Amino acid sequence: MNTEENTGTHPGTHTRLSTEDVVRTFVEYFEERGHRRITGSTLMPPPGDPVLFTTSGMHPLTPYLEGQPHPLGRRLVNVQRCLRTTDLEEVGDSTHLTVFEMLGTWSLGDYEGRQSLDWGYGLLTDGFGIDPSLLHATVFGGDDQVGPDTASLELWQERGLPVELTVQDNWWSNGPTGPCGPDSEIFMWTGDTPPESTPTGDDRWVELWNHVMMRHRRLIDGSLVPLPQRNIDTGLGLERLASLLQGRTSVFECDLFDPWRHLVPGLWQLDEPSLRLVCDHLRSATVVIGDGVHPANTGRGYVLRRLVRRLLTVLWREDPSRELVDLPVELVLHTLDHFRQDVDPDGVRRVLLDEERRFRRLLERGRQVLARPRFKGPLNEEDFHYLHDTHGLPSDLVLTLRQE
Ligand code: SER
Repeated sequence: MNTEENTGTHPGTHTRLSTEDVVRTFVEYFEERGHRRITGSTLMPPPGDPVLFTTSGMHPLTPYLEGQPHPLGRRLVNVQRCLRTTDLEEVGDSTHLTVFEMLGTWSLGDYEGRQSLDWGYGLLTDGFGIDPSLLHATVFGGDDQVGPDTASLELWQERGLPVELTVQDNWWSNGPTGPCGPDSEIFMWTGDTPPESTPTGDDRWVELWNHVMMRHRRLIDGSLVPLPQRNIDTGLGLERLASLLQGRTSVFECDLFDPWRHLVPGLWQLDEPSLRLVCDHLRSATVVIGDGVHPANTGRGYVLRRLVRRLLTVLWREDPSRELVDLPVELVLHTLDHFRQDVDPDGVRRVLLDEERRFRRLLERGRQVLARPRFKGPLNEEDFHYLHDTHGLPSDLVLTLRQE
């Protein structure tokens, strides 16, 4: 992980905080402002939530955003592990991880968006030392259902931050129905040149922090009704912030990846994108297994299976003799420790090794079956059904094997 792109330090910050320091600074800042720290939940969302995994810090809080009183009050702060598979294709770029932690704050019917943004700005600039000239905000510009978010716009104008107005990019929802609202996002410039363009116009503007004015509920017919209270829900990707504060332009360069960077290249020679993918997926698979998921053909288990198979496909592309048995247990342990998962690392490794064996056998069978004369020409739908139902070969795997 030592390309020119990601070893550059960034001039916009003057701190060298570890990830743990970033968490502590964040939590204390909000505790000083009346927030109580809640314990982050596992990757399993609460019953009834439309997603397979927790993808945002607000998931465990949905009932409280909908009006149920929270036992710790109206101001909350936490660190929540999240898994996002919508970004899977982006893993390997500088800013996306499959499993990551989200620093979050909530006002449950207490203070408004203006206050939240102002505290956020204060923490980023005074607390973390980010040069304000490297920040840019985006604000909801209004659509045919909800008017523009003028309160956020005014706050940013008072603070002297450039603002871009958007519609879809500044509306946050958890799914097609449920709590939602306009949001204001804070971006940081990561380019080598002085800042230019806007967040939607230049991807060197990296999104840091999203503040959602969570006051609507979308119904099945698409209409919006007010939630019983006006909430604020904010989320900030920990690894992204930590890497930028550590002067790195890639999440794979933050301190959490130090052990991976030390151990994996000595084990397997991989190009930079493959190394990132392998580390990300191994780390994510570890956390998912640590939360009690086993590989399966449906649901959460299938997400885990895809992660493991994807990383094995990358590992075996160059050298099919590579084996997960070589994976140092320290890496599994480091990951479980970081995510505060009290699970036996050898048990996690056993799940990975079982899945590896299963995948190897499937590939061998697939190659034998596909070598039959029947499958030499183009495959039709019936062939794909037969390969899947009789031999357990999913169509994406069949396509991969035929490219070998
Ligand atoms: N729910 C919002 C998000 O995930 C803010 O936490 O971006």
